[in-house]
Amino acid sequence: MSAQFPVARPRRLRRTAAMRRMVSGTRLHPAELVLPLFVKEGIGEPNPIGSMPGVFQHTRDSLRKAAHEAAEAGVGGLILFGVPAVKDARGSAADDPDGIIQQAVADVVADVGDALVVMTDTCLDEFTDHGHCGILTPGGEVDNDATLERYAAAAVSQARAGSQVIAPSGMMDGQVAAIRAALDADGFEQIPILAYSVKYASAFYGPFREAAECAPQFGDRDAYQQDAAGPVGEALREVRLDLDEGADGVMVKPALAYLDILRQVREAVDVPVAAYQVSGEYAMIEAAAANGWIDRDRAIMESLVAIRRAGADMILTYWATEVAKKLQ
Ligand code: PBG
Repeated sequence: MSAQFPVARPRRLRRTAAMRRMVSGTRLHPAELVLPLFVKEGIGEPNPIGSMPGVFQHTRDSLRKAAHEAAEAGVGGLILFGVPAVKDARGSAADDPDGIIQQAVADVVADVGDALVVMTDTCLDEFTDHGHCGILTPGGEVDNDATLERYAAAAVSQARAGSQVIAPSGMMDGQVAAIRAALDADGFEQIPILAYSVKYASAFYGPFREAAECAPQFGDRDAYQQDAAGPVGEALREVRLDLDEGADGVMVKPALAYLDILRQVREAVDVPVAAYQVSGEYAMIEAAAANGWIDRDRAIMESLVAIRRAGADMILTYWATEVAKKLQ
């Protein structure tokens, strides 16, 4: 009997580790990972986040340590979130020159600002007592245009403190243009904007709201973040508008449940595309692994490879330092 069948044997290229490594089409590199970090005002010790094992609300000191560790591991960037001691309706701490986020940015930039890129999330939800991402109308809606002024002030304040990239995440219409104009007017025309252009109203942000203490006190974010089942084309429209307004890079968030969207965005634009592997994605893998139901390390790498393969140039992930160390 002739040994002609089958002629095509895909297994030939999978047989050894060296072969698999050589033909690998998707590689991860530490420089494309961005680590989100939380810093809280007025705490003496880092505060563990229950729903995100291994993630902390940092003190200014422990934040510096985490930033150093990330830089040493070769992580490409950090994105900082501040949790102020006092919140109010307009989110005053967001543009307080002595606020926790401003202090933390200055600390981290002084320490590691040459080794990696220090970014700031620009939004109001961590700073408002009602937990919404903007200023409220008397009727309790988020007032788009009143919020833009607050975002512009917060962004300028972050840039003055040393932030190297402004990342607006609030999903207000016109936020990129408002921030770009304010940055330029204050002499920060060289500071890029990484726009959270495509941001879905997602259940996967649950653990983040514990970490940033920003759960809405009433209602939800459905009137400003995108609907998972929303019109096809909405994501690309948001991206186009942000690019027209001057965004230097765009983001898709969450990652794993929106890989189709990520791929479409990747194919539509000529700027770097980031994807945010959000808190709920982190918590799911950690929780399943803690129960012995999943191989933690393999699940982490597989999810990151999937996000990369779908088209992300940069990935925001709470595992950035750990994974970067492994890749080194
Ligand atoms: C808004 C913001 C959120 C996240 C990043 N920026 C929360 C929200 O929109 O409710 C979520 C990130 C995550 O879940 O890891 N400032």
